[in-house]
Amino acid sequence: MITLKTKEQIEQMAQAGKILAACHREIAKRIRPGVTTREIDQFVEQFLEKHGATPEQKGYQGYRYATCASVNDVVCHGFPSKQPLAAGDIVTIDMVVNKEGWLADSAWSYAVGKISRQARKLLQTTKESLYVGIEQAVAGNRLGDISHAIQVYAESRGYGVVREFTGHGIGQVMHEDPYVPHYGSPGKGIRLKAGMVITIEPMLTTGSYDVRVDDDGWTARTMDGSLAAQYEHTVAITDEGPVILTEQ
Ligand code: MF3
Ligand code: CO
Repeated sequence: MITLKTKEQIEQMAQAGKILAACHREIAKRIRPGVTTREIDQFVEQFLEKHGATPEQKGYQGYRYATCASVNDVVCHGFPSKQPLAAGDIVTIDMVVNKEGWLADSAWSYAVGKISRQARKLLQTTKESLYVGIEQAVAGNRLGDISHAIQVYAESRGYGVVREFTGHGIGQVMHEDPYVPHYGSPGKGIRLKAGMVITIEPMLTTGSYDVRVDDDGWTARTMDGSLAAQYEHTVAITDEGPVILTEQ
């Protein structure tokens, strides 16, 4: 079931989103060779507490951390670890923030020290593909218009678009209808309406889009070992166009 949010509810989600965006900016300052993603996770817990918010992922379906930390070939849902980040790594930090019962969800990929040109291009194109999708998050469009725009943007530049994980509706619950694939056909799927709040969170790879999940039941990696990146925003569809709730 798709729930439409009122202006007031979207404003509450925007409060969660502001905290999340500020947290990512602080993470950006802390990501460097030698830092562990466990330290980043602990920083996030403290940051959220200081801002009167809680990490919604912690305890979600048995997940044990505030953040997902996905390094290099890990596509998503990596565990924060005690392995220090190394120069040349790329790492995606993903989190869901709960502020007074309303949620926001956003992931950014970060470069650790100096990274290869290939990795830099991947990060850049993944971020651009998110914004190309957001442009289509307009009342009257169909869901497939978002999906298709992302797919064409990414594939025409030679990247794989992960199919197994999608964006989603979000509100007081992390995963609501509709599911938002990052590939598909224009003009297909549900019609977008003002009041819908969704995440758009493309995962691109430098190789094929196939993923496999480790024995830990969470860590999703590219099957071919290629690099993966992800950018995610929570976006409200309004009569004034798409409003990104997880950007300051
Ligand atoms: N933030 C993720 C998403 O975009 C959710 C990760 S699953 C969790 O849907 F268990 F870590 F919460
Ligand atoms: Co999400």
